[in-house]
Amino acid sequence: MPETTAKPSESSPSAAAPPAADGPLRPDWRDILDVLAERHSCRDFDGSPIDRTVLAEIVADGTEAPSSCNQQQWHFIVVDDPALKRRAWEISGGNHHFADCSALVYLCFQKGWTHGNFSVVQSVAGAAYHMMLSAHLRGFATIWNAGIGDKEALAEMLAVPPTFEIQGALAIGRPKPSAPPMKAPRRPFAEVHSWNRFERPAVTRYPAKPAERYPFFAIRNDDNPFAVWDPRDWSWGQIGDFRGYSVWAKSPLAGVYVSRRQGEATAVELDLLPALPDGARVVEVMPWGGTYSVELRRRLDPSVRLHLAELSAHNLSFVEERFRQEGLVLDRVAFDRFADGGLPYADGTVDAVVLPQVLEHMPDPERMLDEVRRVLRAGGHLVASVRNADSTYGRHWSEVESRAQVPNQGPLRPIPAAAVEGWLDDRFTIEQGIGIGREVSHDAAVLTGPARLSGRLYAARCRNG
Ligand SMILES: Cc1cc2nc3c(=O)[nH]c(=O)nc-3n(C[C@H](O)[C@H](O)[C@H](O)COP(=O)(O)O)c2cc1C
Repeated sequence: MPETTAKPSESSPSAAAPPAADGPLRPDWRDILDVLAERHSCRDFDGSPIDRTVLAEIVADGTEAPSSCNQQQWHFIVVDDPALKRRAWEISGGNHHFADCSALVYLCFQKGWTHGNFSVVQSVAGAAYHMMLSAHLRGFATIWNAGIGDKEALAEMLAVPPTFEIQGALAIGRPKPSAPPMKAPRRPFAEVHSWNRFERPAVTRYPAKPAERYPFFAIRNDDNPFAVWDPRDWSWGQIGDFRGYSVWAKSPLAGVYVSRRQGEATAVELDLLPALPDGARVVEVMPWGGTYSVELRRRLDPSVRLHLAELSAHNLSFVEERFRQEGLVLDRVAFDRFADGGLPYADGTVDAVVLPQVLEHMPDPERMLDEVRRVLRAGGHLVASVRNADSTYGRHWSEVESRAQVPNQGPLRPIPAAAVEGWLDDRFTIEQGIGIGREVSHDAAVLTGPARLSGRLYAARCRNG
C-alpha cells in the first residue's frame, strides 16, 4: 500500500500551516530561551530521589538530539542505586555530588563508527545538553562531568563492554537550599565570535610553544608538548583572563579547592603572620579560589580589614560567594581588582601583605615586590611563600608536572629559594625565613638554617624598613 499523507485542506482553519520562514515558531520563544539561559551547574544536591518515570523522560528527551549519520551510537546508564552512586563518588575521586544527586546518567557510545572529528562524541554531547535543558525546565538541577575517574573501575561497576566508551556523567537532582545560586560567568559575546574570518582579542589567546602545527592528538591533559608554563611568557591580562574563567571549574562551596597535596603547609605559612594592630589593613594578592583567604580570614582578628587583590572580577565574585558558604562575615573584607602588576593601594597605607605561593604565577615577581614595598607602611610586614625550584618538588615539576597542560590556577614556574631570598633581602628586612616540606607533596616539615633553601616551599616574614 502506498504511503499516504493527509493533505491539509486549504480552507480548514485547523490545518497546521508551516511557519513563515522568518517568523517565530511560538510567540513565547524569547521567554523559553531566557529560561534555558538560566540553567547553571549544581554541585550541591539534597540527596532526594526523583521518580524513575521522570528520569526516563529526561533521558528520552536527550535522544531527540541530532547524531552523526543518525546512528545514535549512544547509550545512557541511569544510576539511581544509592550504593552505586557512593561507589561512583569514590571512583570519581571526591565529587560528593556523585553521591548526593538523585541519579547519574553515564554517557556512553559504541566504538567503531563516526569517530572522524569526534562526531560520535559530539553526538553524545548534544544529547547530554538536551537532557540538561529538559531537567532544567522540569525544575531540577544538573552538572555535567568529564571528571568521572577510573574508567576501568566504572566499566566493571556498570558492566560496560570494552566496545563501549564511557565519556562522562550527568548528575541530576534537587539543589540544597544553600547551593550557590550562580552561573559561571560567560565571556563577552564579542570576544568569542567573528564574521567571515577568525578574530579574537589578544588577551584571550594564550601562549603556546612556537610550532608550525598543533596536532590535536599530540596534546593531552598530562602531556602537552606546547604548554607554556613560564608566566614571564604570559601577560598579566592573559593570566587574569585564564584564571578568571577557570576558577569556575568548580562551585564556590565551602572546602573547595583545598589541596590534599598541600597538607599542613598552609598552617605553617600562616604561623609566620606578624602581630597586627587592631583594625589593621591586610592585603592578600591573587587569591584565585580563596582557599588561603578563608584560612587567613579565620586567623585574623575580626577587627582586621582584609583586602583581596585579584586580576579578575570573576575570581572575586567566586571568593565572595565562597566566603558566604564558609560562614564568614563579609563586612571587613574588600574585593579589589588590580591590573598589570600594580597594586590598587596608596603608598604606605597597608599593615601587611601576604603573597601565598603566587610570586611564581607572576610575569614580573620583582615588580610585585616593589609594589608591596610601596604600599606597606614603615614597619609593615610581608609574608611570602614560593614553590622552590631547588627542591624535590622543583625537580618533580620540571620532570613531570610541567609536561602536562597548564593548570586552572594559571601558569607557574617554581623559583630557586636563594633567588627569592635575595629579592626579599634587597627590599626588606627578613625577620624569619624557613623551608616547608622535604617531600614532593603532603609533608609540612619546617626546615631552618641552610636547609631552609631546600624545602618544597620557601617562606619568609619580612619587615618594611
Ligand atoms: C564537557 C563538560 C565537562 C565537564 N566536566 C566537569 C567536571 O568533571 N567536574 C565539574 O565539577 N564540572 C564539570 N563541568 C561543568 C563546567 O565546569 C560548567 O559547565 C562550567 O563551569 C559553566 O558553568 P555553568 O554550567 O554553571 O554554566 C563540565 C562541563 C562540560 C560541558
